Parts: sequence; structure tokens; C-alpha cells
Amino acid sequence: MLRVLKLGGAQRVSEYFKNIAPGIFLQELYNRPGAIGAICPSSRYLARQMARQLPESSDGLIIELGGGTGVITRALLDHGVAPERLKVIEFSSPFVQRLRQRFPQVDIIHGNAADLGDLIPRNIKIRAIVSSLPLCSLPEPITQAILRQWQTLLHDGGVAIQFTYNLRLPKWRSYVQAHQTNSKVVWANLPPANITTFSYKSAKLPHPAHECP
Ligand SMILES: C[S@@+](CC[C@H](N)C(=O)[O-])C[C@H]1O[C@@H](n2cnc3c(N)ncnc32)[C@H](O)[C@@H]1O
Repeated sequence: MLRVLKLGGAQRVSEYFKNIAPGIFLQELYNRPGAIGAICPSSRYLARQMARQLPESSDGLIIELGGGTGVITRALLDHGVAPERLKVIEFSSPFVQRLRQRFPQVDIIHGNAADLGDLIPRNIKIRAIVSSLPLCSLPEPITQAILRQWQTLLHDGGVAIQFTYNLRLPKWRSYVQAHQTNSKVVWANLPPANITTFSYKSAKLPHPAHECP
């Protein structure tokens, strides 16, 4: 019995390392630290909480930005998002290859989130953008371009869900012209992260004060 349990544990650990692909993650972190912006992939607790912020409606696309090794993609599918509703945008080729192997049923798009409008089909409603982009460590013009895309693509009632390691008020928040509808700290992550949800339903709002990173 103990042996079976031990085998089960070992299998889970090996599955975990296979999924988070530490080799690819570390290599990408070394090559492009600002674009990765994290010391390790998100925990499954953080990923699960990101998925729980999704609106309940089952129509419209769900766009994931910055798929990485797929922790959040996995959580979105486990949460019940149908693979054909999900599009994952990822900038790094090694991560794209890995995501395509891991999720053959999902459309994994190799591209820059700053060009989001050109990467996805036009005239299909976007219900939500789920982002783990490192908005604090990307060059500021890129961050601003990404947030302008959200403004355009989510204007008729979509939501954006973003996590950040800055538990106070990161600078990128001053570029978001939407209502904050939820904010939640997830401590079971390295480092702890704050998930913020924005609704783009109504018009422009005044800029809040900010600080960075
Ligand atoms: C903090 S990692 C998150 C990875 C994974 N989602 C997770 O939570 O573990 C950020 C990811 O965003 C990707 N990324 C950074 N800038 C990007 C951009 N402009 N467009 C698309 N993906 C980008 C990086 O390659 C990386 O995979």
C-alpha cells in the first residue's frame, strides 16, 4: 500500500515537472528576463483563481495572453472553457512549441499581445482576456499598446483579468480605462500575487495615482 502511495506521489511530482518544463522556463528567463518577469511558473492555486474570475457566460472568445508553459491554460480548460473558445497568444517560440504539444486542441498563436487585434478573428465577441503578461517589466510603450488593445477589443462589456506581483498600485494601472470589479491576493504563489479584474462596460474613467514596479 505504502509502495503504491509512494509511486503515486513520485508520478505526481514527475507529472508536475513535465508540465512546468523548468528547463525551457529557465532558459527563457535567462534570455529575456523582462519579458518573462517571474522567477517560476504560476502556481496552480493562482491559475485556478484566475480562471474563477471568468464571467459565467458561455459565448464569446476567451483570450489568454502570455501562455508560458501552460499553467493557466490548463486551469482555464479545467474550469470548463471549451478548447474552441480559447486562443492563447505567446511571444516566445520555445513556449509556443511546448503549448502546441501540450494542448493540441487549443489555438496557440505565436505573436505579440501588443498586436492582438491583428492576431484574432474580427467580428467575434471577446468575452474575456486573461493575462499573465509582466506589465511592470515590459517596456512602457509595449505595455501601453497592449492596454490600448484591451480598450478597443473589450469595449462592449468584456472583462480583463490580470495578475501582478506588485500588491500596491503598479504603474500600468494608470493606463487602464475600465472599472475594477474585483481584487484578490493569492498567497500560495512565489511570490504572492494580486489578481485584478476589470470591466470595460462603461466609458473612460479618470486615471488613478500610481507607483511602480
Ligand atoms: C510571467 S510569464 C507567465 C507564464 C504563465 N502564464 C504562468 O502564469 O506561469 C509571462 C509570459 O508572457 C509572455 N510574453 C511576454 N511579453 C509578451 C508579449 N508582448 N506578447 C505575448 N506574450 C508575451 C512571456 O513569453 C511569458 O511566457
